[in-house]
Amino acid sequence: MTDLCSALQYGIERLAAANVDTPRLDAEVLLAKALGLTRAQLHARLRDPLHPSDWLRYQATLNRRAHREPLAYIVGRKPFYDLELAVDSRVLVPRPESEHLVERALALAPNLPGYPALTVADVGTGSGALAVAVAQHLPHAVVYATDCQPAALAVAHANASALGVSDRVHLVAGDLLAALRARFSLIVANLPYIPRTVLPNLAPEIARHEPIAALDGGPDGLAVIRRLLTQLPSALDTGGVALLEIGAAQAARLKDDTKRLLPGWHIRFHRDYAGYERVAELSSGNHVPASSVHS
Ligand SMILES: C[S@@+](CC[C@H](N)C(=O)[O-])C[C@H]1O[C@@H](n2cnc3c(N)ncnc32)[C@H](O)[C@@H]1O
Repeated sequence: MTDLCSALQYGIERLAAANVDTPRLDAEVLLAKALGLTRAQLHARLRDPLHPSDWLRYQATLNRRAHREPLAYIVGRKPFYDLELAVDSRVLVPRPESEHLVERALALAPNLPGYPALTVADVGTGSGALAVAVAQHLPHAVVYATDCQPAALAVAHANASALGVSDRVHLVAGDLLAALRARFSLIVANLPYIPRTVLPNLAPEIARHEPIAALDGGPDGLAVIRRLLTQLPSALDTGGVALLEIGAAQAARLKDDTKRLLPGWHIRFHRDYAGYERVAELSSGNHVPASSVHS
């Protein structure tokens, strides 16, 4: 029977050989999970023996990670903003970049029509990350969250229920905003924006395991977002704002598309910590949001 320290070393080597970026961290997380411990508890018990049933559980998860399945799918959880979300292969793993969109939404909220009783749409909700974070922080808001994948909505439902906001997060299957008749003071959307030709070159965690419907943005990455632009005039309240996550090199093209498809509308961009314009903020001509980072 081996001890936890040797098992950990075995896992690190196994994952390093599979080109996993963070083999030590991932092996620690998987060993701790197999034992039902936190990582800190694991470190305190490295000389303990590893029981055969725990070894088998650990091996099974190491195999999955060595096949480059995202760690979040294997442990079934992902921290997002100040939440802990359930995730699995039905949904995109929520990314830290998307937390900028939540920050911007919360900063804007007091300036939006109807505040504090905002009517919000989250288009392409996936795990429900944006919808649930917004609902938690804006306790008077009602959020309508759509996705074209009913399987994703089941995950969003589980998260909204677990985090106590299912009474204010309404989940609707459909294409973009087509299934919703309401007007919104705030629309948030992290829709697919990866150019189709780039998809095969992404890390195996993404290319082999995350849902294609969450990634494929068509020939230039903006096909789905462009369709959403055309729906904004009938979906956004006067004075309302849409916040859209985009890829690092897409701001100029989205600005052109907005000029062409939404003449007279304002668009400005917010940068992430790496300096990339990752959140587009759109509003119709009669409302300029109070503060902005870049225009
Ligand atoms: C990039 S993922 C984002 C998920 C989640 N909002 C987040 O930030 O983690 C995009 C989501 O949009 C959904 N989606 C793609 N095309 C859509 C469409 N035409 N209408 C509604 N949802 C769509 C996908 O199924 C996927 O769940």
